[in-house]
Amino acid sequence: MAAYKLLLLPGDGIGPEIMAEAEKLIAFLSAAGVASFETEKGLVGGSAYDAHGQAISESDMALAQSADAVLLAAVGGPKWDGVPYDVRPEAGLLRLRKDLGLFANLRPAICYPALVDASSLKPELVDGLDIMIVRELTGGVYFGEPKEITDLGNGQKRGVDTQVYETYEIERIARIAFELARKRSNKVTSSEKANVMKSGLLWREVVTALHAREYADVQLEHMLADALGMQLVRRPKQFDVIVTDNLFGDLLSDVASMLTGSLGMLPSASLGGEDAATGKRKALYEPCHGSAPDIAGKALANPIAMIGSLVMALRYSFGLIPAADAIDKAIADVLAAGLRTADIAGPTDKPVSTSQMGDAIVAELKKTLG
Ligand code: NAD
Ligand code: IPM
Ligand code: MN
Repeated sequence: MAAYKLLLLPGDGIGPEIMAEAEKLIAFLSAAGVASFETEKGLVGGSAYDAHGQAISESDMALAQSADAVLLAAVGGPKWDGVPYDVRPEAGLLRLRKDLGLFANLRPAICYPALVDASSLKPELVDGLDIMIVRELTGGVYFGEPKEITDLGNGQKRGVDTQVYETYEIERIARIAFELARKRSNKVTSSEKANVMKSGLLWREVVTALHAREYADVQLEHMLADALGMQLVRRPKQFDVIVTDNLFGDLLSDVASMLTGSLGMLPSASLGGEDAATGKRKALYEPCHGSAPDIAGKALANPIAMIGSLVMALRYSFGLIPAADAIDKAIADVLAAGLRTADIAGPTDKPVSTSQMGDAIVAELKKTLG
């Protein structure tokens, strides 16, 4: 049986609580003979800072580099608000993304039929919703230089962040979007603000040229990012694949999450380029949400985004498609049976805890894979 090297980084806040539920599934898949996993655990974020003063250690970076995939829960929290900028919890996650070259962040927003009433929008607007947001993850304003606060010496300071995109960065993320669209509903919406940003103008030019050259069979539209935010809450089912930059993708995916019922429902995959020799991609899988300090330690967290991120690892890194489909079905069935964590519960539901939700998904999975 194939053995996969998986690095687990639980992180901070609700991170360890939801990672424990993903670990139940990993243990189940091993016990059921689906695959064997060699798991190691590391520290990232505030927990790493507390242990050794860095947001991720060199040895954990080395483990991430050599793993077949990294599974990360969440980092950050008010406890670390005062730590130096370079070692703040989020710096660990950003270093992982940058050093592993994970430029393509896939954020699927799917509304499970059982959750149409949990969405912020009217049920008919989200029933059947299935959007894939493709967020550029290693460029843009997150990483552009200069990035600094300078003292102007007159009692004023200047804060600078720089949005930079080069042709190859836009082209490779657009290619991912077009390829995904071909396997879905064949439509890509590319989003920027070409009306005010030079990087947006270049983005539009490069996407248009690539489309004409190689993907003319895919329907392409361009939409300014502010208008796209509006359309996401007006008529979200018009979208199939959305491709956008690092910052807009961050904002728009949080918005999209509420269409599905909760931020606690949205998983993600962060993928690097294909290795020319092996054909493999470096990959990190993580929920779109953060460490949820407001509910940490209370057993209230929804583990589905975390479990969904493990499912994406099975799909994109390990090719374990039947197992991935079986877990997706188990999640859908558990929701259909009425199980709800507090974030997706209606007024008459009695919410279950994080671990009750994880246990129920494993129990459901046993019916098909056990
Ligand atoms: P957040 O995503 O942590 O929480 C926003 C809201 O959503 C909160 O009310 C929270 O309770 C709720 N929520 C999030 N995940 C949930 C889940 N699984 N189940 C139920 N409810 C859930 O965003 P924030 O509060 O703005 O940020 C907190 C910290 O997390 C910050 O330090 C931020 O930088 C960090 N962060 C980390 C990541 C990551 O590790 N990938 C992502 C986003 C934010
Ligand atoms: C996300 C988060 C991160 C981001 C933070 C924690 C660095 O919000 O993954 O969506 O801004 O990319
Ligand atoms: Mn975010």
